Amino acid sequence: MDNNFSHLRKFLVPEFVFGEDALYLAAKYVKRFQASKVFLVTDKGLAKAGWLKELEDNLKSENINYVLFDDVTPNPKDTEVMKGAEILRREKCDIVVALGGGSPMDCAKAISITFTNNVPVSEFEGIDEVKIPGLPLICIPTTAGTSADISQFAIINDSKDQRKFAIISKLIVPDVALIDTRTTTTMSPELTAETGMDALVHAIEAYVSNASSPITDINALKAIELIITNLPAAYNELNNMIYRNNMMMASLLAGFAFSNASLGLVHAMAHSLGGSLDFAHGECNALLLESVINFNFDSAPEKYFDIARLFEPKLSSKDLKSANDVLKEKIRTLKNSIGLNYTLKDIGVKKSHIKTLAEKAIMDGCLATNPKLVDLKSIEECYNNAL
Ligand SMILES: [Fe+2]
Repeated sequence: MDNNFSHLRKFLVPEFVFGEDALYLAAKYVKRFQASKVFLVTDKGLAKAGWLKELEDNLKSENINYVLFDDVTPNPKDTEVMKGAEILRREKCDIVVALGGGSPMDCAKAISITFTNNVPVSEFEGIDEVKIPGLPLICIPTTAGTSADISQFAIINDSKDQRKFAIISKLIVPDVALIDTRTTTTMSPELTAETGMDALVHAIEAYVSNASSPITDINALKAIELIITNLPAAYNELNNMIYRNNMMMASLLAGFAFSNASLGLVHAMAHSLGGSLDFAHGECNALLLESVINFNFDSAPEKYFDIARLFEPKLSSKDLKSANDVLKEKIRTLKNSIGLNYTLKDIGVKKSHIKTLAEKAIMDGCLATNPKLVDLKSIEECYNNAL
């Protein structure tokens, strides 16, 4: 763990309520903002799962007006953001509530700032490009992985270029997160695995990030420990609240870490892959992880050793060099136990895709904090090794 206090580091997280039934606090928080009309952002899946009805009933019980926007798709597009901002403007809403996984929450963040800044969402690409804060934003996450409910990140797909871009700004940190762990029980085994691996990659990339700090490190390590113990169990027992609570806690802690220490090469490559070929974000991360560890290892061996020791406590300091292989092997075993026992090639990625994928990945803001400098050739190599 980093014990160097000579670098100044800030740590930003919003107010949050964590635990079963937190969703029922939505109306209370809307009232606290003295808002008159809610712009409610979600996707069609949340209606099927029953959580949207619970939220609507909660708002109705306090006579709160709302407009429902459920046109968000996985890997949310800039066109969906612009459409949402237009409806929000027309309906004169004064608060945004997002219910769902990363896609509705990222879309809600982007809709809100697009409305207040009155510019196309593409103008926010990069770090600190948001000028005016959005409307008050309450997030209710329904997956344990993305942490968009507490993070400074939103990922939007440029539909013309089929490229994901990151908006990174403290002005898009939600005002309140209502983290109701019950909502994760309706995730399928596949979604449980993918989102859990997303949380693991958040924690690992934040821990080895060159913007990490003692406080992000503590959160990252605890998140990894919880994921090792609880992810296979949650995958096998979808309704077990002990595993679900622990996975949501792991996601939250990983979110604290990555929102403040940022990410790295896995996410840069995953954004390119998901944006180009429309694969699920967590799945992309899972399939790229070992390849990037192998590339990065010599730039942060002690940090990767710390992570390897969480998987294999018998490792001692003389095993520093072998930690690379041990860690990759342990991650492979974890992935096998949750059904992620395939490669990029198995999902249709071809050698001919790699040049374009690497050209998009090298433009990604997450590379700024990767522990090792990367060039186009090294990114191509990492994709190749993950095929
Ligand atoms: Fe992620």
